[in-house]
Amino acid sequence: MSSSSSSSSAAAASLLILGLSLLLGSVSAVAFDGNFYRNFDIVWGDDRARILKHGKVLTLSLDVDSGSSIQSKNEYLFGRFDMQIKLVPGNSAGTVTSFYLSSVGQNHDEVDFEFLGNLSGDPCTLHTNVFTNGGGGREQQFYLWFDPTADFHTYSIIWTPNSIILSVDETPIREFKNLESHGVPYANNQPMRLYASIWNAEYWATRGGQVRTDWTNAPFTASYRKFKADACVWSSGKSSCNSNLTTSFGSTSGDGAGDFLYTEESNFFVEESIKWVQTHYQVYNYCTDWKKYPQGIPYECVVARSRRNGVVNI
Ligand SMILES: *[C@@H]1O[C@H](CO)[C@@H](O)[C@H](O)[C@H]1NC(C)=O
Ligand SMILES: *[C@@H]1O[C@H](CO)[C@@H](O)[C@H](O)[C@H]1NC(C)=O
Repeated sequence: MSSSSSSSSAAAASLLILGLSLLLGSVSAVAFDGNFYRNFDIVWGDDRARILKHGKVLTLSLDVDSGSSIQSKNEYLFGRFDMQIKLVPGNSAGTVTSFYLSSVGQNHDEVDFEFLGNLSGDPCTLHTNVFTNGGGGREQQFYLWFDPTADFHTYSIIWTPNSIILSVDETPIREFKNLESHGVPYANNQPMRLYASIWNAEYWATRGGQVRTDWTNAPFTASYRKFKADACVWSSGKSSCNSNLTTSFGSTSGDGAGDFLYTEESNFFVEESIKWVQTHYQVYNYCTDWKKYPQGIPYECVVARSRRNGVVNI
């Protein structure tokens, strides 16, 4: 695909974002409407997790005794999951706020958004990871191009049989492709639930643990709203979607085959966006951590690099 150098101009970025929202917006399956009562259970922290405004808003708090979390009632196998999150304001050093998908068991799959808090005025770090068949270590970290504590922003996981894309306000920031045919395990047979949580990680989260949590600021509270799942629900060993990953009911755009799958054209947008984010906002990428992989970087990283350099098109 294209190897043109990425541009950081606002015009290029907004064109990119427009293209993405058009293309990513067409995914359809069973749509869930963002009611936290209907779609989630509080699983940790008692009343530190609060569902407000008739189910429209969720707040998760952390104090010196405990954090809190919720988990989706449904299990899913593929889909697009959106959540708007407003992070802990002010001094949030030592805290981690999350939104993620995970299956259970030893060889679990997991896709993570984790927001590492910081001192007032210092940037939060978006820490992401992908586990497949129990194996993780695929950390990528980013600063955001806005203040995530000032307002709600949309964080999305787009999980298809071909790839897992993490995006922020419709801008893809990373992609994990299905390279199973090359021996890289992929998340495509374990149903996952959605989770959101806030917890204390003062021993590593902020400047590698140098800045501890200031408990005089507790409780630390993050807010969530507008949860949306265009997803295939997994229940009693069966998917709500047909084998083409479109559903037989509840479909909104419902034009049949390929709703979940990316065309060549949207692939181009995804790649350009990731290039832009990685150039300007990436803090850490396991793919360039030569110390961690003295024997050579993982295969998915080799592929990503080759694609960026326009060498291969897998
Ligand atoms: C916190 O701010 C410091 C200083 O700007 C920065 O180096 C660090 O990456 C930020 N994030 C975390 C999670 O420590
Ligand atoms: C899946 O897609 C193929 C090709 O578009 C089509 O022929 C087939 O009927 C579809 N199957 C279902 C169950 O919708």
